Amino acid sequence: MILEYEGYQFVGAVSGQDGLTTIQRERPDAVLLDIKMPGMDGMEVLRKLHALDESLPVIMISGHGSTATTVEAIKSGAVDYFEKPLSTERVIVTLRNVLKQSELSAENRDLKVAMESRYEIVGQSPALRGVLESVQRSAPTNATVLLLGESGVGKELVARTIHRNSPRAGQRFIQVNCAAIPEELIESELFGHEKGSFTGATEKQVGKFEQADRGTIFLDEVGDMSQKTQAKVLRVLQEQEVERLGSARTIKVDVRVIAATNKNLEEAIERGEFREDLYFRLNVIPIVVPPLRDRREDIPRLVQHFAKRTAEEHNLKPKRFEPSAMDVLSRYRWRGNIRELRNTVERLMIMTPADAVRVEDLPPDIRNAEASVARTSAPAPTPAAENTPANSVPKTDGQPAGAGTLREFKDAAERAYLVQKLRENNWNISKTAEIIDTPRSNLYKKLEQYGIKQEVDG
Ligand SMILES: Nc1ncnc2c1ncn2[C@@H]1O[C@H](COP(=O)(O)OP(=O)(O)OP(=O)(O)O)[C@@H](O)[C@H]1O
Ligand SMILES: [Mg+2]
Repeated sequence: MILEYEGYQFVGAVSGQDGLTTIQRERPDAVLLDIKMPGMDGMEVLRKLHALDESLPVIMISGHGSTATTVEAIKSGAVDYFEKPLSTERVIVTLRNVLKQSELSAENRDLKVAMESRYEIVGQSPALRGVLESVQRSAPTNATVLLLGESGVGKELVARTIHRNSPRAGQRFIQVNCAAIPEELIESELFGHEKGSFTGATEKQVGKFEQADRGTIFLDEVGDMSQKTQAKVLRVLQEQEVERLGSARTIKVDVRVIAATNKNLEEAIERGEFREDLYFRLNVIPIVVPPLRDRREDIPRLVQHFAKRTAEEHNLKPKRFEPSAMDVLSRYRWRGNIRELRNTVERLMIMTPADAVRVEDLPPDIRNAEASVARTSAPAPTPAAENTPANSVPKTDGQPAGAGTLREFKDAAERAYLVQKLRENNWNISKTAEIIDTPRSNLYKKLEQYGIKQEVDG
């Protein structure tokens, strides 16, 4: 009566056994459980309950003065206890606290699940499995990892996964976008500065390396660092210490470095844009994250994953993707890789009114690309997709190259020309090189650059 008066719903049970069945049927938010009962006693009911649902809060009711049993009950996982005779006040206050607490931990659990799914690396293709194996092997170490791959393939996600699975997981993960920081600020960003060390330095600033002490620093877009910054970063990596601008003191830092780039650093070295010594420092464990077109098998799973996440984030009803639509999505050449796929799925989830996404609902670029593949096997230009820098790693399959920029068109044309000439010369590299009048080494480089492999059936 007290509980009902307070606005709670109350369901009673006459014995331990009856209680267990009632609880499974009613799914209550909390249980008040007497210890001394005929038949199954409270302690046994408690054990059985927790075997079913560990998170269900149980408050024990003990007879006057049976302290030992009460202690045992708390040890077995009861959240609190009442002694008979029950005091109205205490029952209400305790119950309110217990419910509040369990609501909080439920929220926590949900958040944790949401976070986990945010960082989940979805996919089971052989190409991705290779990446995951390298992640597993490198994560427990302090070794420097260099992540290579086109824009949007998941380099940042991999970097975070390595950190989360390393002994440094409890410490910070500091991300530095080397391309986004203006040249004149990069030193103070990375190494910090003292107040008044330069015009505009009105406050002291702790640099990224210092912030990452005992944790991980993620140097993103390392291929875009200026020469000057490269020299500075190399020094920190060698010495494991930094100096704030305007301070003569050196500070020891213990950081694990993960670097990433979508540039071909070896080419950048040849062009004199990237320091070779820095490259060797960073390239201890290289992990190449393959483009989505080399792991199309993963697309349906990724679509489901992003659809589910979008539905949760935006409070939308879940949607089905019709097999034909899924097919088109799986065949499309995702030049913006997983990021482009994710954005597309998000848009579809929000903009499609029906419960199912059909081919007709797909954006025209994607549908039309499909049509042109079906009509002809000749390269058909597709409109430029977002997030595809002209310097991204070149394409590696025989799909229409979708040349959006001049550079992409040239690459696609060069690739097609080389494949044609190689075919004419039965894939004899020396001969082909001679005929097209280029050094053999250059031809090898091109084959690698474009991922051209000899066709097995000619
Ligand atoms: N295997 C995957 N499973 C689920 N989500 C993924 C996967 N790979 C990438 N993503 C998601 O795709 C998006 C792009 O990934 P991320 O930012 O890690 O790419 P990136 O390689 O760092 O790209 P950029 O070079 O443009 O910075 C992110 O939202 C990421 O969570
Ligand atoms: Mg990134």
